[in-house]
This record gives sequence, structure tokens and C-alpha cells, in this order.
Amino acid sequence: MNPIQIFYDSPYFENLNETEPFQRYLEVEQDKTRESIKGGRVLDIGCGSGRSTAILSGVADEVIGIDFSERLLNQARKILQRNENVRFYLEDAKSMHFKDSKFDHVFMLWNTFGNLYSVRDKVLQEAKRIVKPEGNIYLSVFSENVLPSYLNMLKQNGLIIEHQDENYVFLREGLVSERFNREKLEKILDKAGLKGDIQPLTDIAYWCEVKNSKFS
Ligand SMILES: C[S@@+](CC[C@H](N)C(=O)[O-])C[C@H]1O[C@@H](n2cnc3c(N)ncnc32)[C@H](O)[C@@H]1O
Repeated sequence: MNPIQIFYDSPYFENLNETEPFQRYLEVEQDKTRESIKGGRVLDIGCGSGRSTAILSGVADEVIGIDFSERLLNQARKILQRNENVRFYLEDAKSMHFKDSKFDHVFMLWNTFGNLYSVRDKVLQEAKRIVKPEGNIYLSVFSENVLPSYLNMLKQNGLIIEHQDENYVFLREGLVSERFNREKLEKILDKAGLKGDIQPLTDIAYWCEVKNSKFS
């Protein structure tokens, strides 16, 4: 297991108390997610314990959630057992079993994209492969302004920072958290052959609607 997987497979994430700016971020993200699609087959990459999957289940025809934490996935399965349009798979987002162009939309919410570290660009390529040519990839990520609030939330939750730089916070408990500015997001997308519409979600986050331009 890599350190990020160890973090998510331990009780840290499920016990996290979000401080105010993060509660607001998740509320605004929820509204944005709901208004972004109408129906279709949707993939929730890094679905965790199903918070984002539950939101998507209300607006999609079908939702598949994948995660590499068995512990979180078991919670998601339990919480959403009555949602008939939802299925889950235990797998790593860097190489998923789905056929090309299977999904109308692919989501990575709650800064999941910022937790991928060394496999970030590989996961974006996978998302591009499995979304339909006319489909979208939606990313909700931490912005360059998140750091003071993020450090405060970690402190309040008793989590220990091992190292930090201009892009990342590395926790002793294994989590790596990346933050993004507009220019950096544009470069990442450009390198992947994708184009995105990037908008502020709150002052600590961006919403990025990515067009799959692979056949254009
Ligand atoms: C911040 S949580 C988001 C959970 C959920 N999407 C939500 O919005 O509440 C990030 C999730 O991504 C998962 N994750 C991180 N890297 C992954 C990878 N390479 N493959 C699969 N899941 C991954 C973690 O296990 C965790 O559940």
C-alpha cells in the first residue's frame, strides 16, 4: 500500500472535522455538482465513503464509484445500499478496468485530484480514456489560497505536517495534498490534451469543467 492509501484506509478521513471554510466549500461544491449534469452514466473517482456518490446518484441515471480504500468503500456500500443506480469497485484510479468511452461524465470531487500525487497525470489520462468524446471531466480542487485554512483544519484534527512546499502538504500520516492555481491547472490539462473552463468555487477552491477534446 502506498502512504496515501494507508491514510485513507485508516480512520483519519472518516473522523475529520471540517472547519467552516471547508464546510462552505463542500456545500457550494454540492450545488455545483447537482447543476452540472442531467442524467447519464457517471464515474465518481475516489468516491470514499460515498458523500459525492450520493449527490451524483440524485442527478445521474447511473453512478459507478471507485476507490482504493476498502474500508471507505464498505461504508459507501452500506450507506447507499438502497440507491439502485449506484455500484462500487475497489480499484486504483491509475489503471481502471473500464472500457474506453464508457462514461458520459467523470468526477473527482473534494480535492481528490489533489490527493493523487505521483499518479495525478496518469489518472487524468485514464479519465480521458473512459469518458465519451462529447463528455466532460469535472474537478473540484483546492486553490492557492487554501493553505492557512488547511493548516488550521489539520491542527484542529491533530494531524501532523511532515513537510510542505509551494505545491504540497505532506502529512506524517501519509496524505499528500496538492493545491492549484489557474495557470498550473491549465498547464496540466494542456499536457493531457484537454481544455478546461476554470472558475472559483469559493475563495479556497476551483471548479474545473474539462472538455474531452481527444478526437478534435
Ligand atoms: C478527499 S477524499 C474524497 C471522497 C469523496 N469523493 C468525497 O467527495 O467525499 C479522496 C478519495 O480518493 C481516494 N483515492 C486517492 N487516491 C486514489 C487512487 N489512486 N485510486 C483510487 N482512489 C483514490 C481516497 O481513498 C479517498 O477516498
